[in-house]
Amino acid sequence: MAVGIFDSGLGGLTVLDAAQARLPEVEFVYLADSAHAPYGVRTADDIFDLTCAAVQRLFDAGCDLVILACNTASAAALRRMQESWVPADKRVLGVFVPMIEALTERQWGDNSPPREVGVQHVALFATPATVASRAFQRELAFRAIGVDVEAQACGGVVDAIEDGDMILADALVRSHVDALRRKMPEPQAAILGCTHYPLMQEAFQEALGANVSVYSQAGLVGESLADYLERHPDKMGAGPGAFLTTGDPKTVSQRATQFLRRQITFEAA
Ligand code: DGL
Repeated sequence: MAVGIFDSGLGGLTVLDAAQARLPEVEFVYLADSAHAPYGVRTADDIFDLTCAAVQRLFDAGCDLVILACNTASAAALRRMQESWVPADKRVLGVFVPMIEALTERQWGDNSPPREVGVQHVALFATPATVASRAFQRELAFRAIGVDVEAQACGGVVDAIEDGDMILADALVRSHVDALRRKMPEPQAAILGCTHYPLMQEAFQEALGANVSVYSQAGLVGESLADYLERHPDKMGAGPGAFLTTGDPKTVSQRATQFLRRQITFEAA
C-alpha cells in the first residue's frame, strides 16, 4: 500500500516532489495519464470517466488514498466522484482547497463563515476546463468575501510543457499574463491553478512583476497531505512506490527526468 498521486501528465510531479521532500518515509505511486493529456480541453464527462479509470488503477496498485494532483480533474470531476463513485474505504482528495486556505489565511478544516481577507484582486491562471468549471470561485466564496477574481484560461501551455517545448511555454505564459492584465491591470496575488505551471513559475513571476505574490500548489499540498496522514495514519502507505504512465514509458521518463533533474523511470500502467 502506498499513497497515489494522479495527474493527466507531468504537472503532478511538482506535487510529488514536494510531498516526497515533506514525507520521505511514505511510498508514492504516481500515475500520469499521458495518453489522454491534456485534460484541460476536454468535457466534464470525459474528465470524470478518465479520472475514475486512472484512480481505479491506483486503487488496484494498493493505494487507499489518492491525491488528484490535477486542478482540472479536481475542478471538473472530484465532487461527482466523492458523491457517487469513491468506495467507502478509500479517499480521493483534490488540490484546490489547500491553496484557497493559504490565500484566505485559514487553517485546515476551519469551516467558519466567509470573511474579509488580505487580498482583493486575484488573478487565476488555469486550464480552459478549470476556468469553465468556476470551482475556484465557488470554493473561495465559501471562505472569503469581497475578493475579485479574474480567470485566464491558458490554452496551449500544458501541451507545450508535455512536449518539452519550454520556449513556446514561456512565450504563451507571457501572452496569457498580458491578456490577464488587460482585464485586471493590478492583481495583488496570482494563483497558478494548474500543477504544470510551477514548472513555469519564473516566467509567471517575471511577467507579473515582483510585487505580485504568486501562489503555487506543490508545497501547500505537501503540507496538507502531511497533516492529513498525521490524523489518518491508516492511509499511510508502506510501499512499493512506482511511476506509471498510459503513454510511452521511455518518452515520459525522459521528460520527467528533465523536469525533476533526477532519474525517473516510468513503467506502463
Ligand atoms: N496539470 C493538470 C492541472 O492541474 C492538468 C492539465 C491538463 O491536462 O490540461 O490542471
